[in-house]
Amino acid sequence: MTSILSERQIDKIRDAGKIVSACHYSLRDFLEIGMTTMHVNDYVHRFIESHGAKAEQIGYMGYPYATCTSLNDEICHAFPDNEIIADGDILKVDFVVNLDGWLADSAWCYAIGNISDEAEKLMRITRECLYLGIEQAVDGNRIGDVSHAIQQHAESNGMSVVREYTGHGIGRTMHDGLIVPHFGREGRGPRIREGMVFTIEPMINIGAPGLTVDSDGWTARTADGSLSAQYEHTIAITANGPEIITAQP
Ligand code: MF3
Ligand code: CO
Repeated sequence: MTSILSERQIDKIRDAGKIVSACHYSLRDFLEIGMTTMHVNDYVHRFIESHGAKAEQIGYMGYPYATCTSLNDEICHAFPDNEIIADGDILKVDFVVNLDGWLADSAWCYAIGNISDEAEKLMRITRECLYLGIEQAVDGNRIGDVSHAIQQHAESNGMSVVREYTGHGIGRTMHDGLIVPHFGREGRGPRIREGMVFTIEPMINIGAPGLTVDSDGWTARTADGSLSAQYEHTIAITANGPEIITAQP
């Protein structure tokens, strides 16, 4: 089970979350056609450290970089490298900030230049999946209510949900007990309680849900080569409903 955190503890996560959201917000202006994914990684890494925080992903289960930078058919966990981001690409940037021992996690999908209508639709549906999931994250509901809302919206729009990776409890550690699948049945799974902090991070494919992992042991990509999008927020369950800890302006 995931921990129930006090208001003071959630405040620490809020402070970490402010760095995450400010960094993502600044990426909207920073990203440009022709830069490498490593350049994006280095920018995020410096942003985190210049705000007095640590890039938590470095060394996490051997992961070598501050960010995951996943392009197009890459679902998640792609290494930054010398690949150039090109007009028409979609780029998912995912990172976790550690501020004074408390963590916040968010992934965002960015359109590079002019993207296709179908890429645009995938991004919109995936964002809607995230917010429909968040709406269900209220005290007294169950995790399956979140899962179901996401799956229902993706599949009713002809898209598919990645099964292998899930949202997760987060706090002092990146993965804190609770697992939040993005597919499932209403009324099932653990009860959601005030004081829980977890991520919701649907990965939605235009094609089939299957994936393969590259020989680097990390990069997950769609088995059929179709585009994949992801948006992730860290949320806290409060008496007033879900609070988006990593909300951008
Ligand atoms: N932010 C990702 C998550 O949702 C990253 C985990 S993989 C890592 O858990 F190794 F890169 F950290
Ligand atoms: Co996460």
